Amino acid sequence: MIASTNTGQHEDGVDRRGFLKCMAWAGTGLLWTVGGGVLSSRTFGQDAGKATGGFRFVQISDSHIGFGKDPYKNTVIRTLEEVVARINALPQKPDFLIHTGDLTHLATPREFDTVAEILTGAKVGKIFWVPGEHDVIGDGSEYLKRFGKGTKGEGWYSFDHRGVHFLGLVNVASQGTDKGLGVLGAEQLDWMKADVAGLGDSTPIVVFGHVPLWSVYPQWGWGTEDGLRALTLLRRFGSVTVLNGHIHQTLQKVEGNMTFHTARSTAFPQPAPGTAPSPGPLKGVPADKLRTLLGLTTVASRERVGSLAITDSSL
Ligand SMILES: [Fe+2]
Ligand SMILES: [Fe+2]
Repeated sequence: MIASTNTGQHEDGVDRRGFLKCMAWAGTGLLWTVGGGVLSSRTFGQDAGKATGGFRFVQISDSHIGFGKDPYKNTVIRTLEEVVARINALPQKPDFLIHTGDLTHLATPREFDTVAEILTGAKVGKIFWVPGEHDVIGDGSEYLKRFGKGTKGEGWYSFDHRGVHFLGLVNVASQGTDKGLGVLGAEQLDWMKADVAGLGDSTPIVVFGHVPLWSVYPQWGWGTEDGLRALTLLRRFGSVTVLNGHIHQTLQKVEGNMTFHTARSTAFPQPAPGTAPSPGPLKGVPADKLRTLLGLTTVASRERVGSLAITDSSL
């Protein structure tokens, strides 16, 4: 159950949902705290320093190295380097980094090399990856060769970190039946069911994958067809955080004990759902505004078990 806190209703009378929507489009950050079924939101910066216990990790997404069209072809490398500098300037070193896909634009060895080289400079303990549809162009073997070690199928896996269970999912597979953009497939769902079967309901869960697991805007392919089947497997858990990329903008949704969150791209923004004839790089962004639309997400596990705080920062 979600209990309202005094931060849920703001002085200007905007309720939490309206506030969230408004903040998402304003390109600023929010800090979410989820714990014991009580959820509260704060604007970015406010109280963020108090998340001292536990650990934190960073999510970045959609670096699209190799993107070749104006006005972003000359900036995708530079803005990824700037994100690395932002990570290295964080007051607390993140335990690890998660990249939620579209590392590259065309999945060439050279593009993968460039991403890896730039991210070598990030002061994080480890990097976890999942592919975007741009990373599996062709047969997807280049991605798997580099990042598939120890994973199942097209690159899915799970791990535990300080009491939190993480699942890295693939919903962009380019090969095989029952797979594709926005599809997890029966094989992966069966694995997932078995993977979480032995976990207690109080284990905090973080799920990450490229395409949003919830239906953001299916007309543009911004949703996962069988995402509901995955989420149903997680309903019994007290705290579930779902982190995605692909749509190149921040959007949040809270449903019961589940918090859904999409990250900004490090390369270029995309239009808000339904505000353009089709998805794609946003045109006409003034150079001095671009960095407000790119960025990173930090997630902090606070001292209380099950308590996660999500903060977005623009460049
Ligand atoms: Fe992307
Ligand atoms: Fe994508």
